[in-house]
Formats: sequence, structure tokens, C-alpha cells
Amino acid sequence: MSKPKKIYVCQNCGAQSPKWLGQCRVCNEWNSFSEEITERKIQENSLIPKNKPAKAVPVNDIQFEKTQRIDTGNNEFNRVLGGGLVKGAVVLIGGEPGIGKSTLALQVALDLDNYKVLYVSAEESLQHVKIRAERIGRLHSQCLILSETSLENIFLQIKQHDPDIIVIDSIQTIYTSSSDSVPGSLTQVRECTQHLIKYAKNYAKPVIIIGHINKSGSLAGPKVLEHLVDTVLQFEGDRHHLYRILRANKNRFGAVGEPGIFEMDHKGLRQIPNPSEFLLSHNDNNTAGISAAASIEGIRPLMTEVQALVSNSSFSTPQRNATGFDNRRLNMLLAVIEKRMGYKMSDKDVFLNTTGGIRIEDPAADLAVIASLISSGLDIAIPREVCFAGEIGLSGEIRPVSRIAQRISEARKLGFKNIFISKYNKNYPPKMEGMKIIALTRIETLVKQLFKGNI
Ligand code: TYD
Ligand code: MG
Repeated sequence: MSKPKKIYVCQNCGAQSPKWLGQCRVCNEWNSFSEEITERKIQENSLIPKNKPAKAVPVNDIQFEKTQRIDTGNNEFNRVLGGGLVKGAVVLIGGEPGIGKSTLALQVALDLDNYKVLYVSAEESLQHVKIRAERIGRLHSQCLILSETSLENIFLQIKQHDPDIIVIDSIQTIYTSSSDSVPGSLTQVRECTQHLIKYAKNYAKPVIIIGHINKSGSLAGPKVLEHLVDTVLQFEGDRHHLYRILRANKNRFGAVGEPGIFEMDHKGLRQIPNPSEFLLSHNDNNTAGISAAASIEGIRPLMTEVQALVSNSSFSTPQRNATGFDNRRLNMLLAVIEKRMGYKMSDKDVFLNTTGGIRIEDPAADLAVIASLISSGLDIAIPREVCFAGEIGLSGEIRPVSRIAQRISEARKLGFKNIFISKYNKNYPPKMEGMKIIALTRIETLVKQLFKGNI
């Protein structure tokens, strides 16, 4: 009898090696290799019907069915999904431990009282899930809870109850006997996901899978998983932030980048329908280093607050630390300030934060970041009714940004009276009642206007 073939697989990125390696050559993770057996037992899961061989058809003969979506009753979750759960779609939800993945999934399961939902908890006992469900409220008999780790047993229950929607919490804790690898290993995770995907597609039922993330913030082990599933949703930041922001990194059925904003309270995750009001701190005393960015995340305008602290460094290499903003972009903006405005930043420690834990990806926040950096450096506060929307180029020019009219009206709605934008923006309204629009071309002029030539 031939010996089973062993290989070593990086549990972080899936790279394979015939020998054990201390550090993965692909993702540079240490101690991530573990032994796996490559030969599969020939044991097809008989519960899942085999795929019929596909036939090639002319493109104009393809029958097109409008995507059917299930309204989850949770507006923020629907928004992130692109309008609701698509039948047959597999959705992966990732995030730090304790951020609220299980809470969100259970909440959605309890909200969908017109559908039979099977919530498989492979991590917690039935009692634990019951306690959580009681906190959330809305208990109903259409939501079935199963505490099980074996995929074969899960499929037996699926066959018996024929649920409309399935939730798996979490993919790293279930295992299938068709693979010899240990539960949580890459092979197991991949194999279990493939079975679930096959089920979802064959029966046109949505499956929500919860996945853990690793130290570097990406979904644990299965980078590969992201390619297999239809939608990848990720909770941003950590659980210490006030808000829980859920965003789609990949979505075969909708837009990506659209954030869903929640707050964790004693009854689970509460939706925040008008986040701008919450993201601006209600700090009335004029503190230097604070500015407001009229940004757009996904399709929604979002006023976010940027806080900067610039102080003299006591180290030879000054510290640069950004939370919720790209560190490299911060370094670029600091270089622009130093080069174009002659303001020395290379001996300063710089800290930059966005409030509420939201990660700003919109380049229109550059102008607000520059304004708060200079404000902190000069120790002159920016008036509370001023906000910014502009991208900064390497030569110090203020570049136009998309959907400027929408940004300006959101700012006005929230009580801002002045907005700094780029003069190169084409379609901005020349005048707006109650709002002064200050259009500039370069950052030097921003400083003159805002800080009255103090630099
Ligand atoms: P959980 O949803 O289990 O997170 P994950 O599945 O991502 O690991 O836990 C979220 C945290 O929120 C947990 O520490 C308890 C807390 N929590 C509340 O504050 N209020 C609630 O109503 C619930 C259900 C949990
Ligand atoms: Mg959990």
C-alpha cells in the first residue's frame, strides 16, 4: 500500500512546500507551516447532489433571471450587501474576535421571521446562543439553532429541516471527515466551504459564513476562501472603537466600499442611519488639530472628523502613526507640507486619528488632514463651522473630487458654514444659501485663508 503523501501548507496564505519551513517565502509569516495529507479519501458527500455536466450555449440564448434578493430587515446590512441577500450567494463575514460577527448573524437570523433560518453555532453551546438571542430579543420558532461541528451532521439537519437560509459560525471550527487534516487547517476550511458553496448553488439558498481574521487583519488562513465565496464582508478596526463598521471587500452582486455603521449596545448591534452626526465629536471648545472632512464612502456622503497631533520628537526617527487613514498617504502629505510650505515636519512626531473607528479611503479627506496637521503644528484651532473636500497632489495643488455638490449639501445639512474645495472642480454650485464655498488651487493659499498668514 502506498504511503499517504504529506505536504506542508502555510496556514496564512496557502503556499505549499514539500519540506517544513520556519518562515513562509510567500507571505513572510513565521511558524505558519503545518503538515497536511494531500490524498483525499474518496468519500463524496452523498447529501449534496452531484453537478450535472454543463453545456455550452450561445450567449443570446442564456435565460436571464433577475437576481432575487431577500430583504434582511436590517437596512445597514442590506446596504453593505448591495440591497439584500441574494439567493444562492455565499457571504463571508470576517472581523476581530469580539467585534460582533456572531451578534450580527444571529440578529439577522432573528429578524428574518418569514424565513426558516438554521444558525449553526460551532463555537458556542445552545445555552450561550439562547442568552445572546434573549439580549437581542425577537425570539421566534422559525430560527433553528444547532450546536454542531461536523459538516456531515450539519447536512443531515439541513436535509431534515430544509432551511431557507444557513448561518455557519464559524468556518474554522467545523470539519468534514472527507479530509484528514485537523479542524481549522487550510484544507479543512477550504473543503467545508466548497461543500457549502455547492449546496448554496444547487439549492439557490443563501449561506452566511463567519470567518476569523489573523494578526495582520486578513481573513485567517483562507485567503483562498475570498476567491471562492461571492461576497466578503469585513468588520473594520477593533472592538474598542465606538462604532462597528462593516464593509464589503468583494461583492459579486453589488458595490464594494459601502460601509454599514452600527453601534454595540445592550441589545446587540444598533443601526446608525445618519452617521455623520455621530462621527463629528461634540467638542465645543476650539482645540487645535481638529478638522472635518466632507468625504464619500461608497455612495453615501459622510462627514468625518480628523484629529492630528504634531509635537517635537525626542527620537532620532520621529513617530508617524495614523489610525483610520493610510500611513503612507500621511507620509506623503507631510512631505508636501515640508517641501511646498517650508514647514519642518521631519523632526516632529505625528499622530492622526479619525473618530469613531471609521477608515477613510476617500482621497478628498487629504485637505482636511493637511488642515488639521498645520492647525496642530501652529496650535491654532480651525473654527468648528469649517470643513474640507479636496485631494492633494505632490506639487501642492488642490485637486478636484467627485460628487462635490453632494458633499457640500451634506456639510450644510450638518450646520457647516464654510467649505474649502478645489477651484478645478467643475460642477460645484457657485452659491448656496448658508454656505460659503471657498475654492482654492494650492495649499499655500489655504494656509493664508485659514490661518491668516501665520506660516
Ligand atoms: P460577538 O458577537 O460574540 O463577537 P464575535 O462573534 O465577532 O467574536 O461579541 C460581541 C461583543 O459584544 C461581546 O464581547 C459581547 C458584546 N455584546 C454587547 O455588548 N451587547 C449585546 O447585546 C451582545 C449580544 C453582545
Ligand atoms: Mg463569534
